[in-house]
Amino acid sequence: MVTIQERPHAELRILATELRRDLELQQANRLSLDLTRGKPAPDQLDLSRDLDTAVDTYIGEDGVDARNYGTLRGVIEARKLGAQLMGVDPERVFTIGNSSLFLMYMVAATAYNQGLWGDDRRWTNRKKIKVLTPVPGYDRHFTICESLNVEMVNVAMTEFGPDMERVLELTASDASIKGIWCVPKYSNPTGCIYSDATVAAMAELPNSAAADDFVVFWDNAYAMHDFEFPAARLANLYSHAERMGTEDHVALFASTSKITYASGGLGFFAGSERVLATLERALSIMLIGPDKISQLRHARFLNGRVEQHMAQHAKLLRPKFELVNDVLERELGGLGIATWTKPRGGYFVSMDVLPGTANRIVALAQATGLTLTPAGATFPYGRDPQDQNIRIAPTFATLADLKVAMHVLVQCVKLVCIEQEIAAT
Ligand SMILES: Cc1ncc(COP(=O)(O)O)c(C=O)c1O
Repeated sequence: MVTIQERPHAELRILATELRRDLELQQANRLSLDLTRGKPAPDQLDLSRDLDTAVDTYIGEDGVDARNYGTLRGVIEARKLGAQLMGVDPERVFTIGNSSLFLMYMVAATAYNQGLWGDDRRWTNRKKIKVLTPVPGYDRHFTICESLNVEMVNVAMTEFGPDMERVLELTASDASIKGIWCVPKYSNPTGCIYSDATVAAMAELPNSAAADDFVVFWDNAYAMHDFEFPAARLANLYSHAERMGTEDHVALFASTSKITYASGGLGFFAGSERVLATLERALSIMLIGPDKISQLRHARFLNGRVEQHMAQHAKLLRPKFELVNDVLERELGGLGIATWTKPRGGYFVSMDVLPGTANRIVALAQATGLTLTPAGATFPYGRDPQDQNIRIAPTFATLADLKVAMHVLVQCVKLVCIEQEIAAT
């Protein structure tokens, strides 16, 4: 395959004309396609229909009546489910609400205002607070930081996780850096899985960080979301942290949002007893007991069969990711204008196009009837310094819509990159 850069301008001009004509035809079709958010598709949600009839008795394993107030940390059978997702003992887990994002906000806000440790360490003791944000990353982590007025410092993602050399250098020399965001398995959006060495280094990080109130935010949203088997393995952060004595400084999160229902699942947090006790105190001001009926429902529906349930999701998701990769390979492979990830699980594909073209590609796709995540959304403050990253979220669309959407996307990538190449030389 000859790259765009190697082709004569006359050929590029003809190609551009053809692409414009093709996109005009697509515009006439008044498409309404959406690859923005990583949402489960309706057929995935249907896999959890039996959830609604999974509660025959409201009395839990330890005699708790799920209909009543109390049990702030959650019923034990649901904590066992969370423990499986996060690779910790059930005593280390609490489950509350239906969203891990809520818990992430709560942990960050508590670290900021009261401190997580029951002593006088809290982020507000300093005027300027920073947190490391591996990029490209998850926009909602950035929003949490922005809402707390915490400055974000970008660190590049590699195929093994964040660039740990840079992370160590920054955290050791700057006491205003108080934490790091991590999506360790099937990272949003690159799909990478942190290597064993990265996980071990991350567990050790609070020991070498200049800040004594450092927090590793371990957002394991895609812990069980493999679509190739045998499932990929992630090293256990909490066991490492216990060995290194840093367990008070790691905060683990998971949820069933993409296992059962995104709006009716369970959020999980895991941490040391010291941190759990602080959060329990903070939570007890806000509520007297979580929705334990939903907790029982989930435990009875999923315990002992999570892998089997996730294999059903995999069956629905794998063809969508294969389609995305097939179209990208066939249409953009070897052209020298785009690279993309090929994850074995999770919810996203991350594509890097020629620097300076992502915004225009997303705008052209929008004009053609395909909505993509805004360019820049995978970077703090919406600013991708290279203007080159585009996140593809293929889960929600039907296969038929995804096929049309991918056709539009690759045509837009080709046209904008060819126009840039012609203009540049
Ligand atoms: C990395 C990551 N964390 C958290 C969430 C949201 O999780 P929850 O529904 O549990 O709040 C998402 C959703 O897309 C995500 O991609």
